[in-house]
Amino acid sequence: MEFVKYEQRNRYGIITINREEALNALNSAVLDELNEILDNIDTNAVRCLIITGAGGKSFVAGADIKEMLELDKSGGEFFGKKGNDVFAKIENFALPVICAINGYALGGGCELALSCDFRICSEKAVFAQPEVGLGIIPGFGGTQRLMRAVGMGMAKQMIYSAGKIDAAEALRIGLVNAVYAPEELMPAAEKLADIISKNAPIAVQKSKIAINSGSQLPINKGTEIETRLFGECFETDDRRAAMGAFIERRKNVEFFNR
Ligand code: CAA
Repeated sequence: MEFVKYEQRNRYGIITINREEALNALNSAVLDELNEILDNIDTNAVRCLIITGAGGKSFVAGADIKEMLELDKSGGEFFGKKGNDVFAKIENFALPVICAINGYALGGGCELALSCDFRICSEKAVFAQPEVGLGIIPGFGGTQRLMRAVGMGMAKQMIYSAGKIDAAEALRIGLVNAVYAPEELMPAAEKLADIISKNAPIAVQKSKIAINSGSQLPINKGTEIETRLFGECFETDDRRAAMGAFIERRKNVEFFNR
């Protein structure tokens, strides 16, 4: 792969957008490689993913403006669908995905972050949806996911103004869960991935499905889904082992994803 790297560490995987010369901007090739990497991840071998950007300056500085320059209406729609399809794959990926934002998260970069389960960032992170300043709207899910993350009013302010916000403001509005010194960001992301990957993987996956499905449904429908998934957990060996260990006062249960 030229623009996206994948590395497995312990029981988690790290995806790095690796196009530093363009501040990791997302062109079609980057999106295709990201899609292919996701398709090839062995979800039995890893239990959590981290997505980050290469270099110290940028997470992802948006969709590639040079590629978009010559697009017409159908080309724009095609490019938007390509991004939206990959980001939907991340949002619905079987494993939890942590976004570690190491710098600029602009336009498509902010949208990539929003498709992950949650976000942490470095003190140097800068967020914006600058699209309306370029004569377009957010096209990789920003008009839909930003409001779900930070509320309608703040999402509209960010999108209509195209203004940048810093890490402290992103924390204040709930766009990120935590802010770290730049050198502490990846260790913190890996520590979280390690903690998550030590919990019962089927239970973590079913939690993700329940939360994601419920976010689009009335609460009574969401709790129906929760009840079904809760019941399914009782069929797993991991559930039997963990409850047995609790009763017998044994610590550090190992889960086997079954
Ligand atoms: N697309 C293509 N190339 C980009 C890029 C982008 N989004 N962002 C940065 N680059 C390239 C620059 O063209 C430059 O390459 P060259 O040296 O070959 O010209 C290189 O990355 C370094 O960038 P700068 O020289 O501009 O670096 P800087 O430190 O002066 O500024 C920046 C950094 C503030 C992030 C600035 O690059 C910038 O504003 N980038 C564009 C951000 C943006 O508007 N993103 C939204 C895109 S639209 C979108 O994402 C639509 C969507 O919803 C799908």
